[in-house]
Amino acid sequence: MTTTDENNQASQDNKLPVKNVAANDVSASSEELIGWINSRRSMGNLDTPAPTRDQIESAIECAATAPDHKKLRPWRFIVTQGEARHELGNALVAAVKEKALKDGEELSEKTIKKTHTMPLRAPVIITVVTQMQEHKKVPPFEQMLSAGAAVQNLILALKAQGFSTVWRTGLLCNEPAVKAYFDVGPDDYVTAFVYTGTSPKDESKRKPIDIEPLVRFES
Ligand SMILES: Cc1cc2nc3c(=O)[nH]c(=O)nc-3n(C[C@H](O)[C@H](O)[C@H](O)COP(=O)(O)O)c2cc1C
Repeated sequence: MTTTDENNQASQDNKLPVKNVAANDVSASSEELIGWINSRRSMGNLDTPAPTRDQIESAIECAATAPDHKKLRPWRFIVTQGEARHELGNALVAAVKEKALKDGEELSEKTIKKTHTMPLRAPVIITVVTQMQEHKKVPPFEQMLSAGAAVQNLILALKAQGFSTVWRTGLLCNEPAVKAYFDVGPDDYVTAFVYTGTSPKDESKRKPIDIEPLVRFES
């Protein structure tokens, strides 16, 4: 867990470029924008073209505007691409082996191979870590939710630039070997692996969702 003073210093040193566009100054209609948001689909097995560094940074800037009580910025982003994906594969294999040992399960060669190649399912993986900050008024659950909002902003900003994604965690993401690989502290979490790239398939259409059982209006 990081203290608020350290965090304030970090945020002063690291200015975030934000392109301000007023709510009433967007060129798309609200119907188009809402359709664009709710037609987002998760896509597995992504390929190149991958986003450029500038495009990834733009998406991370959007992620960093997520609602964030007391501006703690309790999130970190690690971009894994190219050969580094094999290193991540090695960390996942170490994790699956440790987990099998802990659970008293046997591990097949097939599982080990599959685990090693998991990061190859996309050209870029953006790992989002919730780095908890100590603050009297902002409990860990709020910081976790802020990280979730950051992930969704990230995903939408990648979609805005023409890329597909899938938010994965999997059973291994917070195993010690994976946390060590990303330098994640004991109170902190790997919150998302955002697999990013271009899908060879079209996004499937989302079926209408009946929100009636999910909502109650009171007046
Ligand atoms: C925290 C979190 C973790 C997830 N982990 C996985 C995962 O490990 N593997 C997976 O196939 N889907 C995972 N999902 C679900 C997908 O990201 C996706 O939301 C789901 O497949 C539904 O597809 P849609 O986004 O097109 O509606 C996760 C979602 C969340 C919010």
